[in-house]
Amino acid sequence: MLENMSRMLLDAKANKYAVAQFNINNLEWTRFILEKCEELKTPVILGVSEGAGKYMGGYKTVVSMVKNLMEYLSITIPVAIHLDHASSYESCVDAIDAGFTSVMIDASKETLEKNIEVSKKVVEYAHARGVTVEGEIGHVGGQEDGVVGGILYAEVSDCVEYVASTGIDFLAPALGSVHGPYHGDPVLAFDRMEEIKEKTNLPLVLHGGSGIYDEQIRQAISCGICKLNINTELQQAWTKGVREKLSSDAEVYDPRKVIKAGEANIKEAIEAKVELLGSKDRA
Ligand code: 13P
Repeated sequence: MLENMSRMLLDAKANKYAVAQFNINNLEWTRFILEKCEELKTPVILGVSEGAGKYMGGYKTVVSMVKNLMEYLSITIPVAIHLDHASSYESCVDAIDAGFTSVMIDASKETLEKNIEVSKKVVEYAHARGVTVEGEIGHVGGQEDGVVGGILYAEVSDCVEYVASTGIDFLAPALGSVHGPYHGDPVLAFDRMEEIKEKTNLPLVLHGGSGIYDEQIRQAISCGICKLNINTELQQAWTKGVREKLSSDAEVYDPRKVIKAGEANIKEAIEAKVELLGSKDRA
């Protein structure tokens, strides 16, 4: 069932597990994710970045595609369509109007005051339409900044003020994770994560979920993480399968066969993550 993230993340918080956000890039990925998550009986969040939204033909196309695939595949698990890292209020409004069930407003590069101002506006628009909202404090760095380690750690007092002033549903505090591959070992500020959980009492979100060690993910869940965002790991898994197919089969030309060559790897990566997060059989 298509729904917002409220029920799934509050259940994750109450029962100390986490739900995966897998980012989608096209129809085939969406289908692989839905099929595998249905088999595992896990709730799932389909993350759509602004860039991926444009690539797939706009937010309305994304919503129609997900809805129709869910019907076609007889999907019964809870599924959220979530706008990842929206850069503006207008982008959130477009996604909500198109039928997204959840949005993330990312004004984390702005001052706290500006971040609060725009997030509050998004919350008002979203909540009036039954849509949930995630916000970011501090800044998760990574490839998009052109620097590795461009991380601005979230301050506990900023998180408390942000949550109280905006009415946001879920908080993504930047605590050491980065988008894309890590150069060196990830170092996460678990003490601060726990303090933010205690003081805000909201389900927390960890971005940059690819490449974080399993033990760190378990610890993050015990410190309040209820949602883990994963993009790069699925991309790497899929590309590996396709690369192997292309290099081992010089005759292949049917795009369906080429794209399908990444299916088993993606599904394997999803299963491992869902097992680790503890969301299997929670749907
Ligand atoms: P990765 O690409 O590092 O998995 O991060 C995904 C993410 O945080 C999307 O918001």
